[in-house]
Amino acid sequence: MEKRRLAVISNRLPIVLKKEQRGKWQIEPGSGGLVTALGPVLKNRDGIWIGWMGTNAEEEPAGPLLEDLIRRGTRETGYSLKPVHLTKEEVNKYYHGFSNEILWPLFHDLFSRCNFDLSYWPFYEQVNRKFAQAVVSNTDENDYVWVQDYQLILVGRELKRLGLKRQTGYFLHIPFPPLDIFLKLPWRFEILEALMEYDLVGFQTVRDLRNFVGCVRALFNYKVAKEKFMNRILRPDGEVLVGAFPISIDYREFEDLARTGEVAEMAWSIHENLPNRQLVLGVDRLDYTKGIPHRLLAFAHALECYPDMRRKVTLIQVVVPSRVDVEEYGNLKQEIERIVGEINGRFTEVGWTPIHYIYRSLPRQELVAYYKTCEIALVTPLKDGMNLIAKEYCASNIEEKGILILSEFAGAASQLHRDALLVNPYDRQRMADTIHAALRMQDDERQARMRRLRRFIKRHDIINWVNSFLHAGIARNLGDFPQA
Ligand code: UDP
Ligand code: G6P
Repeated sequence: MEKRRLAVISNRLPIVLKKEQRGKWQIEPGSGGLVTALGPVLKNRDGIWIGWMGTNAEEEPAGPLLEDLIRRGTRETGYSLKPVHLTKEEVNKYYHGFSNEILWPLFHDLFSRCNFDLSYWPFYEQVNRKFAQAVVSNTDENDYVWVQDYQLILVGRELKRLGLKRQTGYFLHIPFPPLDIFLKLPWRFEILEALMEYDLVGFQTVRDLRNFVGCVRALFNYKVAKEKFMNRILRPDGEVLVGAFPISIDYREFEDLARTGEVAEMAWSIHENLPNRQLVLGVDRLDYTKGIPHRLLAFAHALECYPDMRRKVTLIQVVVPSRVDVEEYGNLKQEIERIVGEINGRFTEVGWTPIHYIYRSLPRQELVAYYKTCEIALVTPLKDGMNLIAKEYCASNIEEKGILILSEFAGAASQLHRDALLVNPYDRQRMADTIHAALRMQDDERQARMRRLRRFIKRHDIINWVNSFLHAGIARNLGDFPQA
């Protein structure tokens, strides 16, 4: 297995190209859980990563300048980067359109936010074909091709149409919806059929796996054989293995960073600037699936119901800019800023502002300083494939005094439900009660819960995840996986 190269194919490379104000091109790290999780997977392996750099082909630099930036990216990340170039129209219709206005909301159960524009599908096909062609040019038959996420479901199908023989795996980072929601997708047969073109398909949770198998049973007449820990779907011309592989983080990296002097200093200065406060932390990409307005309103409700929290508790809400060209995301930013303004306007007193709002991406060290020092993390998405913030918070909370309040609709809840405090993000009263109860929780209970959370995440880290997937995908060994 060591001799084979791993080729990761995802919409995004771990770097994005950005033009600075003075017109100079730079590379920056990409944001989001997929990039954070897969970086350590490729490091120290002789692997390659094929993906898009976040720019339009018409505007990006060309020739030696582009090659130089890619070489720099390769040096900084430690693995080989192969860019796929997309035109402005492809970006609009494949990425903003089909991926983020159809698949993203539908798969997160938010059907009413879907825009089933008919012009998007041909571009989704066209760009998936482009990625498949990049696989052809950059891999050989010994490589394992591992396609990631909802933007690239058709790559396996396109590889077969190009006549290419590779062992292929696919992992869906976002949830897979239940049958009654999936059925609404006008391209439901094409999407489901394309997923079954891979040798192995992985989902985040057993619930997602069951939803998928339920859709296959309802839409196709294929036999599904239950193995001990996975399912085998028998198509007329082959078979596909499907299983649940909950993704994780590089636990070591977060814990080690939290122990450094620089992070300790940053953590100290956060508390120094907010003296005598208990700090509650929210960190999210700007996305309507993250339930940011619901969380802000629940926090305000807690201040209303429990006046003892006033002047003593501050919510630090970090919002990372994301998908700024999709209309829904622009509207959400305005909504969040309006709610923050109203809550602060209503409750602020001399020397105390209830919500500190940060709208930018944070360097890793600063993020870990917040994880390390905040007494509570509020991770309350309306729906989420996994949610890595929850796991990163625990890994960085080395003093083991923090409390994780977690939405029952995050994939992470399927693993962390015993020691996190679970909430329904739509239930404002219970959320407020849980925040208040967490603030009053005794130190020994906090510590016992955090210790168990950390132990679990340490044991089920990203290395464990990648090994399980590759073992199932390459060695066909059905080892120790959750049962569907
Ligand atoms: N993150 C980031 N920059 C920030 C804050 C967070 O890159 O300023 C990262 C964070 O470390 C985490 C990811 O964004 O790995 C968020 O992943 P998650 O699974 O929680 O949600 P996603 O954004 O993928 O939907
Ligand atoms: C989620 C998706 C990823 C995506 C990330 C950031 O984690 O599962 O595929 O890369 O969000 O979103 P973006 O659209 O900026 O790539």
